[in-house]
Amino acid sequence: MTRTWRIGVAGLGTVGAGLLSFLAEKDGFAPQGGKAVVTGVSARSRSRPRPFDISGLPWFDDPVALAASPDIDIFVELVGGSDGPAKAAVEAALKAGKPVITANKALIAVHGAALAGLAEAQGVPLLFEAAVMGGTPAVKVVRESLVGEEIHSVAGILNGTCNYILSAMESSGRSFEEVLAEAQRLGYAESDPTMDVGGFDAAHKISILAALAFGCAPSFAAAEIEGIDQVALLDIQMAKDLGYRIKLIASAERSDAGVLVRVHPTLVALNHPLAQTGGVLNAMFIEGSRIGRIFIQGPGAGAGPTAAAVAADIADVMTGAQRPVFQRPALELKPFTPVDPARSTSRAYLRFLVKDEPGVIAAVSETLAEAGVSIESFLQKPVDGSDGVPIVLTTHAVAESVLTAAIDRIADLSSVLDRPRLMRIARS
Ligand code: HSE
Repeated sequence: MTRTWRIGVAGLGTVGAGLLSFLAEKDGFAPQGGKAVVTGVSARSRSRPRPFDISGLPWFDDPVALAASPDIDIFVELVGGSDGPAKAAVEAALKAGKPVITANKALIAVHGAALAGLAEAQGVPLLFEAAVMGGTPAVKVVRESLVGEEIHSVAGILNGTCNYILSAMESSGRSFEEVLAEAQRLGYAESDPTMDVGGFDAAHKISILAALAFGCAPSFAAAEIEGIDQVALLDIQMAKDLGYRIKLIASAERSDAGVLVRVHPTLVALNHPLAQTGGVLNAMFIEGSRIGRIFIQGPGAGAGPTAAAVAADIADVMTGAQRPVFQRPALELKPFTPVDPARSTSRAYLRFLVKDEPGVIAAVSETLAEAGVSIESFLQKPVDGSDGVPIVLTTHAVAESVLTAAIDRIADLSSVLDRPRLMRIARS
């Protein structure tokens, strides 16, 4: 007999409307012998114009009331935000013993361990495939398909808005501010773009992937975060001349010392698959002992793909498959030991402005040599009508603590006009 699963959907923005359209098109979506029927919706505004007619659906002003309603079997949270109504509603649904599906990366990255504890104590699933890489499989790949693997690192492009902006800066030769303004006009970027361009959205996603990959509690607070707002067009052009493309890379690496989770603009060799991931696409590499490397690329946002990821979670609830939320039971989850980024080692890109006078390059290279930093390549671009000359150099692999000490000394040279801009270069 076909079981009907009554779905409550809180949040009717792009993804919520996409989910309602998807379920309507599929006439209830019945992949596992169960049929999904929406029996309650909630959003900030009931009357806002939407691509989907909600007038026939039971309306709840309060998402918490919807979450706890006896008229739903599964609660889908698409409100967003790490706290506030999203958290209250998810907690209410779990406490009422209802499976929860969410696309909310901030909520899971910040409160994932506590919510997993609540879900597992109640014996109900808490699923969030849509929270990372939107419609592209990522969460289940790491949590389920690779549960037998020892994962060393996960790294990728997890924010489509930043990737779009960086790609458009390169292709059009426009500044960050100009491209961002256009993206906002076209509706690709939020009116407050901080979550995206500040690197926070990518940090939420990589914090979740780190927890899934390494079987630890998500720990957003331990992530080191730098966004793309300081990436200059000049950096993009200079990097390209040196054979690299700048990408916002989110990475989680495990070593004997612990786990390093970070998000920062990174130079990626032009022939690297991540360098060839353009526009709004997302992509990630997973590295493990037995698998070597896996590369996944696809849409990281959008109504259709993200709704399909939510639907996959609905199908999982229908099958009754139950796994720990983060690879091991919530009671055993511990935060990871964060690694001090100063201890990490990588090749680096430095860009700074110098006075156009004799002896400047010698002074810079002497300072670097004294600090123990070895130069790999060097580029100077004549610029008309400027007070200084930008120079760029790349280094061989160097500990970050050594490099930052060297940067301090370069910044103090009288011939150097600004503080060197540092970006790391990804391993190939
Ligand atoms: N704003 C995100 C992005 C999508 O630009 O990738 C939702 O996380």
